[in-house]
Amino acid sequence: MLKQNLPDSPWYSSYEPNNYGDFFYSLVRVYQPETVVELGTEAGFSAYHLARGLRTNGKGHLYCYDLWEKYDAQKYGFYSISKSTAEDNLREYKNTIGLNLTNAIGIDRAYQTVDILHVDLHNDGEILNRIVPAWIDKVRQLVVIEGGSAERDRVEWMIKFNKAPIKKWLEDFSRRGDIEYLTLEPFPSVTIIRKK
Ligand SMILES: C[S@@+](CC[C@H](N)C(=O)[O-])C[C@H]1O[C@@H](n2cnc3c(N)ncnc32)[C@H](O)[C@@H]1O
Repeated sequence: MLKQNLPDSPWYSSYEPNNYGDFFYSLVRVYQPETVVELGTEAGFSAYHLARGLRTNGKGHLYCYDLWEKYDAQKYGFYSISKSTAEDNLREYKNTIGLNLTNAIGIDRAYQTVDILHVDLHNDGEILNRIVPAWIDKVRQLVVIEGGSAERDRVEWMIKFNKAPIKKWLEDFSRRGDIEYLTLEPFPSVTIIRKK
């Protein structure tokens, strides 16, 4: 994440300016999930609001995966923060959230089913193609991915490093015929994917 473009906040999150926190909270309140998995947690903004919904529901658990200080993508201008920062930010929900420092790629093999999956790994079309097909048949309710708008596909690092656009990946992925998706446009945008 390019910190210089983000608000001065403990969350360092592109989700914060357009208040996607309430989106994550509402999703959990409406769908009443038991098991939520998040791939890419960083300082914990989305995790906080997912957990806030679970706490209000009175049930459910959030399993978070991130490499935190072990994430090495400085060549793209990304760096993450330490796991202990996320722990501090999420202390209030420590009984609802499990934080796991591990590579998110392949972690689908640890699950048979989940209710909601949130994918926020500095997404591009190629990363999503490694993640979402492996999960889609295990997800009972929704896959939520960061991105999906044309504006998000044009952010500086997507262009500079010739990253595969998310919008095109969504169009291609939906050709399998058994999924539908909806993109919420305010930056950075999120896309909800579900089985028909
Ligand atoms: C955009 S940030 C997540 C933001 C967070 N969801 C929020 O609400 O602000 C992306 C995170 O993905 C993590 N990440 C990227 N690739 C990863 C991988 N293969 N395995 C685990 N974590 C990864 C980075 O360490 C970084 O913390």
